Amino acid sequence: MNELNGQRLLVIGGGRGIGAGIAARARELGMDVVVGAREPSTIEGGVRLDLTDEATIATAAARVGAVDHVVTLGSLPHDVPIAELDRDRVVAAFEAKVIGPLLVAKHVEIRRSMTLFSGVVGWRPGPGSVVKGVTNGAVDFAVRHLAANLAPVRVNAVAPGVIDSGAWDGKGDAKSAFLTGAAGQTLVGRHGELDDVVEAAIWIMRSDYVDGQTIHVDGGRR
Ligand SMILES: NC(=O)c1ccc[n+]([C@@H]2O[C@H](COP(=O)([O-])OP(=O)(O)OC[C@H]3O[C@@H](n4cnc5c(N)ncnc54)[C@H](OP(=O)(O)O)[C@@H]3O)[C@@H](O)[C@H]2O)c1
Repeated sequence: MNELNGQRLLVIGGGRGIGAGIAARARELGMDVVVGAREPSTIEGGVRLDLTDEATIATAAARVGAVDHVVTLGSLPHDVPIAELDRDRVVAAFEAKVIGPLLVAKHVEIRRSMTLFSGVVGWRPGPGSVVKGVTNGAVDFAVRHLAANLAPVRVNAVAPGVIDSGAWDGKGDAKSAFLTGAAGQTLVGRHGELDDVVEAAIWIMRSDYVDGQTIHVDGGRR
């Protein structure tokens, strides 16, 4: 296990949700944290980086310089039935989860580890979630291939189940029933909390012998 204290971390998508939780915990552990975001002006340590735009990735990489770790969480969901697929939104979903992280690997000087974010839907096919499922599955393969290409830099993924990260707040009054339903689909009988998945990302950064893996943090849902 390496001590994270003093190490430099770039969290892409760290302005809210799970990414903000990782940035906050990393700061508590003494890490020097930079946050890549589409709108960085109000974010502590923010630098502009849009995963759908390679020029912003290259500019951010030059500005940030070498980092010990990158965690990338960008997600542009397009949860619709097959008949309603919009090509541009399908492409954007792949850019946020898969293509953008590949270009981050191209441009950012990474010393120790890179962590991508997948999700349990990749392993639980169902109607209306084909884009989320295929992009999350692609992340699982991306980390194996990136690990082989970036070695000795380690590359892994976290695949969360349903986490009450703020991402579901848009459901309004239906959120509570949604989380209860999600809890019932796990083996542990609850939905995920921010800390469950934040600690997994921190553990991956510290674990020098974990490489090319997807770590499932889903209460057994898969
Ligand atoms: N929460 C869950 O239940 C759950 C379950 C399975 C998987 N996951 C995965 O875990 C990750 C984090 O989830 P979350 O719950 O924290 O989601 P979230 O609250 O929706 O956060 C998504 C993050 O992605 C950023 N983002 C979107 N498009 C981007 C782009 N083009 N360039 C850079 N950043 C971009 C957003 O930044 P802006 O502020 O600019 O929009 C935001 O910070 C995602 O990959 C998600 O798919 C979450």
